[in-house]
Amino acid sequence: MKTVLSGIRPTGSLHLGNYYGAIINFINMQEKYNCYFFIADWHSLTTHPDPKTLHVNVSGVLSEYLACGLDPKKSTIYIQSSIPEIAELYLLLNMHAYLGELEKTVSFKEKARQNPQNINAGLLTYPVLMATDILIHNADFVPVGKDQEQHLEMTRNFAARFNHKYGVEYFKMPAAYIHGEDELIKIPGLDGSGKMGKSEGNCVYLLDEPKTVEKKVKGALTDNGPEGENTQKPDCIENLFSILRAVSTPEVVKHYEGLWDRGEQRWYGSLKSQLAEDIIKVTNPIRERINDIRNDTKYLARTVEEGAVKARESASKTLRDIREIMGFKPF
Ligand code: TYM
Repeated sequence: MKTVLSGIRPTGSLHLGNYYGAIINFINMQEKYNCYFFIADWHSLTTHPDPKTLHVNVSGVLSEYLACGLDPKKSTIYIQSSIPEIAELYLLLNMHAYLGELEKTVSFKEKARQNPQNINAGLLTYPVLMATDILIHNADFVPVGKDQEQHLEMTRNFAARFNHKYGVEYFKMPAAYIHGEDELIKIPGLDGSGKMGKSEGNCVYLLDEPKTVEKKVKGALTDNGPEGENTQKPDCIENLFSILRAVSTPEVVKHYEGLWDRGEQRWYGSLKSQLAEDIIKVTNPIRERINDIRNDTKYLARTVEEGAVKARESASKTLRDIREIMGFKPF
């Protein structure tokens, strides 16, 4: 059975980008694959979160994941920091990760530019920790959004380098899970630029009330309408269509693509109402389930305890093998 693994940093509520990049595929895979799902709390430390909010965020993301339909009976759900084997493998893999390649990572350069006063070693070796998460279970597939593509590529490099160095074929080459298409998905923000992201402040959250979703979508940036037939869409309009393609039916998408291609005017209001309605169809059931789950602290505790036991079983086996391959021997 193939292994699938996905992770998310606990830095706040989940948004539509997280859902389409890392969750939705997962929900349908739980029967067919050996699924690991974890909360990457060590990864969130690069920005030094307030100790008072770390646990709240971990617990919040856990609840939201369960509300999305992750099932602890079918998948292994755990918190990264409860698996000490990850820390040890991270140390070992760090010896085979080079400064040049780490410094060239797009996410490192971006974060270093945004926060020049906090370029810490954890930020530099972030891709090694992420590779460790994946390799510790020798995952075959990793459902991620487009923004994580380079980290996946680096994971394959680290895995291949390790195999080559020690003359083994131990690590598999994990593939980014592709959402039924040739490209990884990128859900854009509502502000006409880049991807939807917490730090960008352009998100629709899974827990947003319908009224809030409507307001956010209504306020999304648009232009003055197509300037003729079959013109190229500006970023702000293409972004709305990207979200529409994720949440709506192909017929709905075709209808609005037709309006654009024919150069028709005055339909952005209708597009936005439809978009809001279809987003709400996705988010409503999740929002309705969340309160029960969030308040069931026993269920949450049992989920991560059982998850940690299962995850550690697999992680400690990998670590034993890796120690042996690298020459650690008991006296
Ligand atoms: P994070 O917490 O930033 O995001 C979690 C997941 O959501 C996806 N995502 C998106 N997908 C499409 N469109 C968007 N706008 C969008 N925004 C976020 C991300 O691609 C990701 O899949 N380093 C990772 C967490 C991590 C991890 C791992 C993931 C740690 N170890 C091992 C997979 C495997 C991160 O920061 O994701």
